Amino acid sequence: MCGIVGYIGKRKAYPILIKGLHRLEYRGYDSAGVALINEQGQLNVYKAKGKVSELEAFCESKDIGGMIGIAHTRWATHGEPNTVNAHPHYSESERLAIIHNGIIENYAVLKAGLMEQGYTFKSDTDTEVLVQLVEYTQVNRHVDLKTAVQLALQQVIGAYAIAILDKTHPDTLIAARKGSPLVVGIGEDEYFLASDATPIVEYTDQVIYVEDEEIVALRLGEKVDITTINNVAKTPEIKRLELSLSQLEKGGYPHFMLKEIFEQPRTLTDSMRGRVNVRQDNIALSGFIDNKDRFLNAKRIIITACGTSWHAGLIAMYAIEEFAQIPVEVEYSSEFRYRKPVINKDDVVIAISQSGETADTLAAIQLAKEKGAFIFSICNVVGASIPRVSDSGCYTHVGPEIGVASTKAFTAQVTALTMLALCIGREKGTIDKEQFVSIVRELGQIPAKIERVLGEDKRISDFAKIFSYAQNFIYLGRGYNFPVALEGALKLKEISYIHAEGYPAAEMKHGPIALISQEMPVVVVAPHCGTYEKVVSNIQEIKARKGRVIAVVTEGDELVSKIADYCIEVPATEECLTPLLTVIPLQLLAYHIAVVKGCDVDQPRNLAKSVTVE
Ligand code: AGP
Repeated sequence: MCGIVGYIGKRKAYPILIKGLHRLEYRGYDSAGVALINEQGQLNVYKAKGKVSELEAFCESKDIGGMIGIAHTRWATHGEPNTVNAHPHYSESERLAIIHNGIIENYAVLKAGLMEQGYTFKSDTDTEVLVQLVEYTQVNRHVDLKTAVQLALQQVIGAYAIAILDKTHPDTLIAARKGSPLVVGIGEDEYFLASDATPIVEYTDQVIYVEDEEIVALRLGEKVDITTINNVAKTPEIKRLELSLSQLEKGGYPHFMLKEIFEQPRTLTDSMRGRVNVRQDNIALSGFIDNKDRFLNAKRIIITACGTSWHAGLIAMYAIEEFAQIPVEVEYSSEFRYRKPVINKDDVVIAISQSGETADTLAAIQLAKEKGAFIFSICNVVGASIPRVSDSGCYTHVGPEIGVASTKAFTAQVTALTMLALCIGREKGTIDKEQFVSIVRELGQIPAKIERVLGEDKRISDFAKIFSYAQNFIYLGRGYNFPVALEGALKLKEISYIHAEGYPAAEMKHGPIALISQEMPVVVVAPHCGTYEKVVSNIQEIKARKGRVIAVVTEGDELVSKIADYCIEVPATEECLTPLLTVIPLQLLAYHIAVVKGCDVDQPRNLAKSVTVE
């Protein structure tokens, strides 16, 4: 949540900062702001409620000069989203300006202490407390900015990525991180700073991922200077970025979400490249190969994740238990981290995260690590915090996912987890060769089959027009497709603001059936496998109560097509792979309903792509 950008160099900072904010807008967009030190040494701060474009409009008549600056796009934690609470925040004397991503948990105590010293506060934010504390330390301890930041952070409990400017030192930009991501870009005589690499890729591919509890000083004409909060000097490790600019653009689609849905045939091919070998009927997953014993000796696998990633984890539970015969527990990271779970040394914990920065999942990993479990992560963003703290893992390699609603990351997570389940099962001998080979071959067919499902886009957009009136939706599925029902409901809620519930189809009789009426669209995921006949009975029960059914079925289905109001067909495949196909119409349905309703598809209200606070 919240995006931060910084620049120091020989160019005008403002255009670089604004472009960077646009790239980071997916992280939060309830207000935005920029601070610049101009050629006369003035520190100008401009802020606006709403999106980055509002800030640009506000700055049109302002002095935007300066070759050093910081900028922020906010997702409110403390204080309502308005201009006063927007970042950057000045210090008492307006000598300093700060931007912050995270939460200062002990801000109230610190604030009370500063107020006793005569400090006044304009905003309700925890961030303003931090900048005041830095200035107080500078003044009272007679230290330079970096030391003041260091001493102030020693008193702070919480999570942060911060950047600070001091108008009396226009050649220095100080930043620090603990629990919230921060990347430094190294150009020629210039430095960039951002929450992730997307604002940086345009200028340089040389980056440093700042580690927890590190403070970075970026000074013109000097090398990057990194020390820890406890003043231990660190040697910066420069890495090469694997990201291209074209991946960050819409490429002709009206929304990133639609682009990302349509990218799935390619992204899944990329996810499987070098791993699934259809010619040799084999799967090679290096994260598994290098740690085979941990998986083979595991008494239990615990999967921890949030949101869509949690849904992918639930599908993995079916696959791992079926093929590897290892008991699996799937946990919401936010619950797991606080409920004193029993974790043993021979447990394997699989953490799933698109962003690799989700605070609750990071904390869940930390807890499991302390108990000695082996941590394997499935992540999309290369170099993010979660893969860095894990023992091993597997990148999904789908490229940047910018739409807040996760689509291509989900199918890649399911693919990676299915590959892992198959690898463990093959090694343990709990899946027979014939079934293994058949699934491996079918995995190779999935991108082409998704392409066929995408061909249904026009029909799905027609259904969307019919159903966009609805206030509530129910999504039903069973077995591997129960999590798909949950995911379909989540997609609809997130971007169209229609209330939607996902249920295991058979649970309907235990309560939700009371909701069924003509007004209630019911989306049933009913591919021809497993409990198909039972799901058909559930559809009959809905129809008997005049519910309107949209069914996702296997091509050629004759039974459901006779009773459902609308059917969307997907090609036949192995049961464990059906989610990769059945989720596509649900992604498209949510997308088109949101478009018909005029919603902001890529940046839905109140949401942020990367949830770096708990
Ligand atoms: C998905 O559409 C959501 N925006 C959200 O549930 C997301 O999946 C969740 O916040 C987890 O994020 P992560 O995968 O980056 O950890």
